[in-house]
This record gives sequence, structure tokens and C-alpha cells, in this order.
Amino acid sequence: MTTGQALQFLKNKLTPHLGDLALPQSEQILQFILSCSRSELYLNLSAELDKSSISQISAILERSLTGEPLPYITGKAFFYSREFTVTPDVLIPRPDTETLIEAVLANQKQKQCIFADIGTGSGILSCILTEHNTGWKAIAVDISLSALKVARGNCRSGIYFICADLLSSFKAKPVLDFIVSNPPYISADEMKAIDSSVSGFEPHSALYGGTDGLDFYRKLALSSRTFLKSEGRIYCEIGYNQELQVKEIFKDSGWSDILVLKDLSGNFRVIMATRPEKI
Ligand SMILES: C[S@@+](CC[C@H](N)C(=O)[O-])C[C@H]1O[C@@H](n2cnc3c(N)ncnc32)[C@H](O)[C@@H]1O
Repeated sequence: MTTGQALQFLKNKLTPHLGDLALPQSEQILQFILSCSRSELYLNLSAELDKSSISQISAILERSLTGEPLPYITGKAFFYSREFTVTPDVLIPRPDTETLIEAVLANQKQKQCIFADIGTGSGILSCILTEHNTGWKAIAVDISLSALKVARGNCRSGIYFICADLLSSFKAKPVLDFIVSNPPYISADEMKAIDSSVSGFEPHSALYGGTDGLDFYRKLALSSRTFLKSEGRIYCEIGYNQELQVKEIFKDSGWSDILVLKDLSGNFRVIMATRPEKI
């Protein structure tokens, strides 16, 4: 079997399940097995595959047909032009979350600072932000010890890892310059409707945000204020339909300069707000 035949074979098998995504997924499977770039793949379509590559193709295909996301099969996901290790203990990074990174980088101009990343998962936010600003230190928090192990493997220096419920293990002192969080925000109704490749494989604790999906914003709006320095900010990812409710939650807890930013698809995606002057 040649690489080109394998590409066509994978595409034919995956199309009934993935539609238009079958071709990109087939390319990614072959790129993973052959350790090559997309252009190298297309330059070598007539190359014969060895036995081990063919058996890897059938093993990956079998798992893909169950709906298992490819990043869990390969153990790799790409985010912000960087490769991250992922396991079923962490959410697969989504391109939407790049808006959160952009919001922080556009607004936090300090050379030195300390921030908390609440619900760090695979560690993408702490890793990218501390890599962009080598003077920044992160405290990466997650309630899942298994997720923190993945995050630790993905990140270099300058990050402290804490297994805790939100900010419960912090001392009530205003030491943080900012807080960044992509909390679980899917509501009970949405959980019933989401694709089974998400609900069946990604950690429930990374997805479910309570009955209306807003539990974590309520908790963060109230509990994070005392840990921020004066004028310290919070940046949170939100669901595309949560703009008004999340704004209201932060307003009711006294936060100021509340802004909601859109992602590249034009959906509301990030809320940023400044700590209340008086707490
Ligand atoms: C939506 S995922 C975000 C992961 C990663 N930051 C990202 O953007 O891809 C939410 C994360 O919050 C964590 N989490 C859920 N409840 C938590 C809690 N009470 N305290 C701390 N972390 C929590 C989950 O384990 C999960 O890793």
C-alpha cells in the first residue's frame, strides 16, 4: 500500500463519521505515523508503507471510528503554534482559547509579574504566557492531580503547580497581578446535546459548569477579588451565549471596566474586568 492509497483508504472510512473533516484527520493520522509535515506527506504519496505503519493505521482507524478524538490517540495537540502533550485527563486545547491569550498579552504590559491560571488542565495558558514573558511567574491550579501531572510535563520553569479547588489554598493577600481562567462552562442542557466525541471522552470536570453553566464565574467573581493587587484584572473564557449573564455576575460583585471580547469567528469569548477598589 502506498501513502496515497492509505490516505484515500482512511478518507473513505472516516467520511461517514466525520464528513469534511475526514481528509484533514486522515492527513494528521499519516503525518503522525510517518513523523512528517503535511507537505512532506503530499510529496511522498507514491512511497510504499512498511508493515508496522500499516498496522498502526488500522489501530488508529479503529479507535477513530469509536469517536475518540485524535489528540487522545496520538497524545499530542497543537495550540498557539506549539505542541502539547494531552491525555484523557485534560481538555483538548481549543483554538477559541487563543483569544484569552491575546487578551492577556494585549493588556498586561509588566515585565515582571505573578499570575494565577485557574483550571490549568494541560497547562497551555501558563506555558504560553510565561514563554512569551520570561519575567512572568504563574501559579497553575487544578482540582485534578492527573491534569496537573500533564501540565507539569508540558511546561518549563517559572510555574508553580497547586492541586486545589479554585483559590481555596491561597492566603487572602493581594499578591497577584492578574488571574486567567478557562473554567468549565457547559450547562446541563448543553451537556445533553454536545457531540459524543466530547462528552464521551473529555473529562466531565473540565466541561460541566453547573445547571446554567455559570457556577465558576459566580465563584471566581466573589472569591478571586482578595488575591489581586489594586487594579489587578481577571480574564476568563466564556461560552458564546454567556456574555450578558457573565457581565452581570462580575458587575454585581463590584468589578469595574468590564469588557467582553470576540473570538475570530465573531463569538463572544473572553471577559476581562478590574478588581473592585473596595472589597
Ligand atoms: C475547560 S478546562 C480548561 C483547561 C485549560 N486551561 C485550557 O484552556 O485548555 C477546565 C479545567 O478546570 C479544572 N477544574 C474544574 N473544577 C475545578 C475547581 N473547582 N478548581 C480548580 N480547577 C478546576 C478541570 O479539571 C479542567 O482542567
